[in-house]
Amino acid sequence: MAGNWKMFKNPAETTAFFEKFLPQVAGATHCEIVLCPPAINIPAAVAATAGSRVEVGAQNLYWKNEGAFTGEISGPMIKAAGAAWVIIGHSERRQFFGETDATVLERTKAALAAGLKPIVCVGEMLAEREAGETEAVLHQQFAGGLAGLSAEEFARVVIAYEPVWAIGTGKTATPEMAADAHRIIRGRVEAAFGGNAAAAVRILYGGSVKPDNVKGLMAQPEIDGALVGGASLEAGSFASIVNF
Ligand code: PGA
Repeated sequence: MAGNWKMFKNPAETTAFFEKFLPQVAGATHCEIVLCPPAINIPAAVAATAGSRVEVGAQNLYWKNEGAFTGEISGPMIKAAGAAWVIIGHSERRQFFGETDATVLERTKAALAAGLKPIVCVGEMLAEREAGETEAVLHQQFAGGLAGLSAEEFARVVIAYEPVWAIGTGKTATPEMAADAHRIIRGRVEAAFGGNAAAAVRILYGGSVKPDNVKGLMAQPEIDGALVGGASLEAGSFASIVNF
């Protein structure tokens, strides 16, 4: 269960969140719990979660380790700050910051090289779904991104299916729609990396996951977890999702 805070909260608010959140998930051993705050809050999040099962992630990384790349942060920096995860290829990065399948692959390789666990996002836009192109888009995103990894690299990746039309809109994919897309993605994994990899890979659903719809989504065997935006900002709400 992963939370993506996007561009919300400062360090003090991060500390305050975990003070409330940790006691509410102290009994949650059925899943891994990850929070991805803005990078400036990673130290506060790492300090607040020390000694707990909750892990911290970044929301993006650059693929070079260091250099003259103003404004960027690297995998080794994220790792050294104490984070274990990184979100890659989120649709907001694809829409607003020029992310492509090729740069998703670069970032994923860099994350793995730094010892981070990548959560790689894929998903179709509304116009693509309405045009019946969902499967083609997922195939293309997989072929241009994750399929470029070695089998050993791929084994350390978590995928997030996030239909763009469901993100921040209150429109969740129905559990069946999400499961269908997860099956398409798992099929791509099988074609590229074989049956064992397809059975082992974890595919999270993301897009307006809330305390009141998480149970239905998680009842689908295809859905292994959730990547939660808005509903991860409030401790009680994200704790209910974790404790679904
Ligand atoms: P949302 O965002 O839960 O606010 O729809 C999900 C995401 O973008 O990861």
